[in-house]
Amino acid sequence: MSRPDGSSSLNASPRPLAIVTGGSRGIGAAIAERLALENYDILLVARQQAGLDSQAHSLRSVFGVNVISLAADLTSGAGVAAVLALVDELKLKPEILVNSAGLAASGRFANSGREAVADQIDVNVRALTLLTHGILPGMLARGRGRILNMAGVTAFAPVPGLAVHAATKAFVLSFTESLSEELRNSGVSATALCPGISRTDMLADLGGQELPRSMLHAPSEVARDAWEAMQRGEAVRITGIGPQVTAAWAKWQPRSVVRYVSGVVSRFALNY
Ligand SMILES: NC(=O)c1ccc[n+]([C@@H]2O[C@H](COP(=O)([O-])OP(=O)(O)OC[C@H]3O[C@@H](n4cnc5c(N)ncnc54)[C@H](OP(=O)(O)O)[C@@H]3O)[C@@H](O)[C@H]2O)c1
Repeated sequence: MSRPDGSSSLNASPRPLAIVTGGSRGIGAAIAERLALENYDILLVARQQAGLDSQAHSLRSVFGVNVISLAADLTSGAGVAAVLALVDELKLKPEILVNSAGLAASGRFANSGREAVADQIDVNVRALTLLTHGILPGMLARGRGRILNMAGVTAFAPVPGLAVHAATKAFVLSFTESLSEELRNSGVSATALCPGISRTDMLADLGGQELPRSMLHAPSEVARDAWEAMQRGEAVRITGIGPQVTAAWAKWQPRSVVRYVSGVVSRFALNY
């Protein structure tokens, strides 16, 4: 395997290391910036080299940390294996793993392409779980580490029109909560971050109604919550009052009411 540029500087660096999947754009990029501000070196993972290069350059020049990037497609087992192989080969000791890479596709399930369905499960569930599985043993051996898994407010309710995406986020929430309990007193924590809606490329790709600015969270706001929640070792952090009310409301209603209301809202918002 060829080593990404800057690998040797990472080995020699006194700073702690964070791995951020999906760190080239959107919420993952904002989290990578927050971690660089906190003086972490960063390993960025995403598919497109151009986006990785631009984010790596920006992190280096603004924050003065070491950054290496790995172009890997996390829909494939080979992509996940490439990340874990790089960690092994460079003998990296990540203190933080942020699983932010994610995919969303809207529309009726029956009309969805097979590839779009599979890709969401592969990135949002399979890659996130296997990267956690690969990185966690080293953290446990060192007695410290933080894992942040991106769920979303969609983890708390079924969402017609985003059926597969919402189900993958319910998986992330359940998986991360279980893990968080297993890790009690280990020095390692697992946090499920559950933001509402952020203005990112993902939102633009979903189309649908233009949402009022007051409903949207800036990626930097989500990143601030990510950092705080990791520091406190919280199992679940919901970003924003609106998403907190939505999650609490969904918890206490009959499921038939939750899915009906969710269907009405998403038919309007997503035009599916
Ligand atoms: N935006 C929201 O409203 C919102 C709300 C709640 C939760 N979330 C969650 O937050 C996370 C980030 O969302 P976002 O809105 O920031 O998305 P985004 O702007 O679309 O960015 C997605 C990131 O993931 C990378 N990525 C996508 N597919 C990948 C693949 N197959 N392999 C490797 N990397 C891949 C992208 O880079 P490349 O394209 O170069 O691969 C990019 O860096 C996701 O898990 C999402 O579900 C988002």
